[in-house]
Amino acid sequence: MATKIIRNKNSLVLLNGDLSNISDSIFTYFEKNQEISSTRKKAGRGTVTFFRNDQLNLVHKAYRRGGLIRKLVSNFYLWTGLTRTRAYIEFVGLKSMLDLGLSVPKPVAARIVRQGIFYKAELVTQEIENATTFGRNLAVNNLSMELLEGLGHTIKSFHRKGFMHPDLNVENILIDSSNKIFFLDFDQARPLKPKKIQDSSDIERFKRSIEKFCLKSGRDFPKVEWETILKSYDNKAH
Ligand SMILES: Nc1ncnc2c1ncn2[C@@H]1O[C@H](COP(=O)(O)OP(=O)(O)O)[C@@H](O)[C@H]1O
Ligand SMILES: [Mg+2]
Repeated sequence: MATKIIRNKNSLVLLNGDLSNISDSIFTYFEKNQEISSTRKKAGRGTVTFFRNDQLNLVHKAYRRGGLIRKLVSNFYLWTGLTRTRAYIEFVGLKSMLDLGLSVPKPVAARIVRQGIFYKAELVTQEIENATTFGRNLAVNNLSMELLEGLGHTIKSFHRKGFMHPDLNVENILIDSSNKIFFLDFDQARPLKPKKIQDSSDIERFKRSIEKFCLKSGRDFPKVEWETILKSYDNKAH
């Protein structure tokens, strides 16, 4: 899958070459058709909006800063070159992972708009339809054996291809209606580096995210279920 790059006066658009009827007008279409977006929700840091063009169900994400700095500069980042922008890193990362058969949303387009020494950025992906987050499944105690084993296998499949999830939390995992698992949100400050052998910090990160979720909702950590995930992760190696 080739990536098309379109350079305008102060913006750069990346397009997925596999989708012949997507052009850089997707962003103006999105802006002009806000009313067609089914839901607009703030999840995580970015602002995510679900919308549809004539053929596809899509998700638009505007990158935003977290923490205190957000109040000062909100959605602006310091420009240090195209390949270091959030949108480029996530778009290209998703594309490489998808090409390797990993389970991530299909990147559709990305736009980076420069303003002086700053930039702001957006990403459009294809919607994983009828999906729930792992957090939601945890909340309603819907942790089937199939799902837990699938999680272990999915993490393993990423590691085998040399990828780590830089922020594997309960909201960055989606499960569709046929129990297929997707990892999303590869928004990073640095290009994704090949995983070091023995580095399983994303598994630790995932565990902390479950612990935090349980603490907030006043429940016990699902020990047996966690063991099942780890076991499936190990079994996938053989
Ligand atoms: N392609 C997609 N299909 C379905 N839902 C999505 C998709 N991309 C994002 N979402 C939903 O939006 C939420 C936020 O998106 P994410 O990429 O994690 O951005 P951030 O956490 O930085 O705001 C996700 O947890 C998920 O519920
Ligand atoms: Mg997220």
